Amino acid sequence: MEIIIQPDAEAASRLAARFIAKLIREKSRAVLGFATGQTPLPLYRELCRLHREEKLDFDRVTSFNLDEYVGLNPAHPASFRTYMWTHLFGQINIVPEHVHIPDGLAPNIPISCEKYEDEIQAAGGIDLQILGIGTDGHIGFNEPTSSLVSRTRIKTLTARTRRDNAGAFGGEDKVPPHVITMGLATIMECRTCLLLAFGAPKAAAVALAVEGPVTATVPASILQFHRRTIVLIDEEASSKLLRGEYYRYVYEHKPDWQKI
Ligand code: GLP
Repeated sequence: MEIIIQPDAEAASRLAARFIAKLIREKSRAVLGFATGQTPLPLYRELCRLHREEKLDFDRVTSFNLDEYVGLNPAHPASFRTYMWTHLFGQINIVPEHVHIPDGLAPNIPISCEKYEDEIQAAGGIDLQILGIGTDGHIGFNEPTSSLVSRTRIKTLTARTRRDNAGAFGGEDKVPPHVITMGLATIMECRTCLLLAFGAPKAAAVALAVEGPVTATVPASILQFHRRTIVLIDEEASSKLLRGEYYRYVYEHKPDWQKI
């Protein structure tokens, strides 16, 4: 894992956006994996700005989102489809047919999950997957005790995640119990993972994911087995890491060509 600690979320998000822009410019048909939540919002704002002001072209980009709520109308204000079109897709020139988000209204969920996996394969796999992290260590909606070799499937949210995400629904009791999420094995096949975490509430989960044992009770810890995972965090989210000084030293001494 490469751990990059930035002073704040804005600086980290600018770095992430630059990294993504480089991939889009270098690879003619980049496949990007997107996450939702509060964390990637400054990154999406910066990508919209790069499109507007620096002509970053999303015309040939294909996208796959990590997850979606089951049973929620895609037009619902708290659906991840609404989130993505509001904060990113509606402001860039991505082709709507190139956008993939799990179908929370699918009549046959297992078949629709298999199809999602097939679509990722057919696109040539995901080049770069953006990830946030839940306070319980989940990535996507792979809650603690998720199979470390799981594929896209239905999951039941924990009470803690329902509480964390209650804001968008106006109450914990309104958060749907079920979601569809890419599995941990699906995420592990992405060529690069970029995990973002900002703020003190994420510090414990980040420390466990990066420096704790690999365990299904902290799903993000599986990324220790990933060939190229970049953990891009702010000072507050880094506060519980035991080796913070070392990660800073590594980044400061990186040859320029190796820096993201
Ligand atoms: C949700 C999403 C995750 C996200 C996590 C953290 O549950 N399914 O993809 O990373 O919560 O959200 P936030 O960034 O709002 O803290």
